Amino acid sequence: MSNRIIGLVGGTGNLGRGLALRLAKASQEVVIGSRYKEKAETVAKEITERIGKKVQGLTNEDAARVSDVIILTIPFEGIRNIIERISQYLEGKTVISTIVPPIFSEKSAAEVVRELLPRTVYLASAFHNIGYKALLDLEKDVECDVAVCGDEPAKKIAIELAEKIPGVRAFDCGPIEYSRIIENFTHLLIYMNKRYRKKGVSLRFTGI
Ligand SMILES: NC(=O)c1ccc[n+]([C@@H]2O[C@H](COP(=O)([O-])OP(=O)(O)OC[C@H]3O[C@@H](n4cnc5c(N)ncnc54)[C@H](OP(=O)(O)O)[C@@H]3O)[C@@H](O)[C@H]2O)c1
Repeated sequence: MSNRIIGLVGGTGNLGRGLALRLAKASQEVVIGSRYKEKAETVAKEITERIGKKVQGLTNEDAARVSDVIILTIPFEGIRNIIERISQYLEGKTVISTIVPPIFSEKSAAEVVRELLPRTVYLASAFHNIGYKALLDLEKDVECDVAVCGDEPAKKIAIELAEKIPGVRAFDCGPIEYSRIIENFTHLLIYMNKRYRKKGVSLRFTGI
């Protein structure tokens, strides 16, 4: 896994930065993608300076082209446009969707992604229940389990990546259709953060 290049499409946002930081810190080769190359370069430089490990900033298209594993950290409304732009670079690769749709959407974001991807792509869905603030705080382990849905070998790769983050355990949580459950769970966590005035309510499985 350590020689695979991980590309974060939409990696300039909160979750993308957080995952890039943690994965690069774990010595994974990481590329930040953006619609705007300069924006990607700025974020990549910030991360490189923070942890002393080289992170590259590219357009989303180039990030998808050079990467073996592509993590989608874009908002739900950007799915169609971004996949149309990068799909030619995804054949035979692994894609991981972190995308949370509006609450009670008819389809999960992962199923929407699946419909748009080339058939040769292996898709997993993961990282929905991790808060970006916890990822950005390198002083602390991340107290969260990661539920992973989708195809093999994408699920195995997503689990390996998630477990590079100190404190995280990751579990196979079934086929891509089950992603609806974990995506919607994020809305519950957002509600609980507000209700209890917390920043990092998260998910832990017990008994496993
Ligand atoms: N934030 C969290 O803690 C968290 C946790 C779990 C899951 N998620 C999910 O992860 C995804 C990313 O979350 P986020 O908070 O990082 O989002 P974000 O900051 O709003 O957006 C991430 C990046 O996506 C790009 N983007 C924004 N609007 C776009 C559009 N219409 N089309 C294409 N690209 C667009 C932007 O990059 P450029 O301008 O550089 O292209 C932006 O920096 C979301 O689907 C969210 O539901 C977030």
